[in-house]
Amino acid sequence: MEKIGLFYGSDTGNTESVAHKIREKISKENVYLIDMYDAKAEDFATYDKIILGLSTWHDGQLQSDWDTFFEEFKEVDFTGKTVALFGLGDQYVYCDYFIDGVGIIGTVVLENGGKIVGKWSTEGYEHTESKAELEKGIFLGLALDEDNQFEQTDERIDAWVEQIKKEFPIEG
Ligand SMILES: Cc1cc2nc3c(=O)[nH]c(=O)nc-3n(C[C@H](O)[C@H](O)[C@H](O)COP(=O)(O)O)c2cc1C
Repeated sequence: MEKIGLFYGSDTGNTESVAHKIREKISKENVYLIDMYDAKAEDFATYDKIILGLSTWHDGQLQSDWDTFFEEFKEVDFTGKTVALFGLGDQYVYCDYFIDGVGIIGTVVLENGGKIVGKWSTEGYEHTESKAELEKGIFLGLALDEDNQFEQTDERIDAWVEQIKKEFPIEG
C-alpha cells in the first residue's frame, strides 16, 4: 500500500484521538501521523495521498498549530496530490462557524492544485453556517462533534474510512 501522511492539529486532544483511530482503521504500517506542531512544509512533498485533520476554535479560527503554520501552508503545492479532510467542532455553541477550519484549509488545497476526496453529507447536523459547506448540503470533509454527538463518532469514522479507501483509492 502506498504510504499516506496524516497531518493533524489538536488543542485538547480530540482531533489527535480521531487521527489515531483513522490510522488504525486504514493501516498502522502505512499511515504516518504528523502533528502540525512539528510539521514542516517539505513534509507534504513526501506523500501523494494526504489526510488533514483539525479542530476549529474561537469563532471560526484554525486550531492553534494550524494557525501558526498557515502562511507556510498557503505555499504548499498540491498538484498531483489527493487529499481527504476531517474536522472537529461544536455545531450548537458555534453553529455559525461549525468546522470552519476544514473549509479554510480545503480551499487552499483546491487553489494549490489538489484533488479532494471524502466529502460528507450535512445530514444529521444542526449547524447554521459552515465555511466547510462549499456546496449546499455537502461538507468538504468528515465532520465530527465530540461535544454533542460523541456517540456517533466511531460510526462516522468507519463509514468515512470505507469511503476514502474507495475514493483515494487505497489498495492492499
Ligand atoms: C473557546 C472555544 C471555541 C470554539 N470555537 C469553535 C468554532 O468556532 N467552531 C467549531 O466548530 N467548534 C468550536 N469549538 C469546539 C472545538 O472545536 C471542539 O471542542 C473540538 O472537539 C476540539 O478539538 P481539539 O481537542 O482537537 O482541539 C470551540 C471550543 C471552545 C472551547
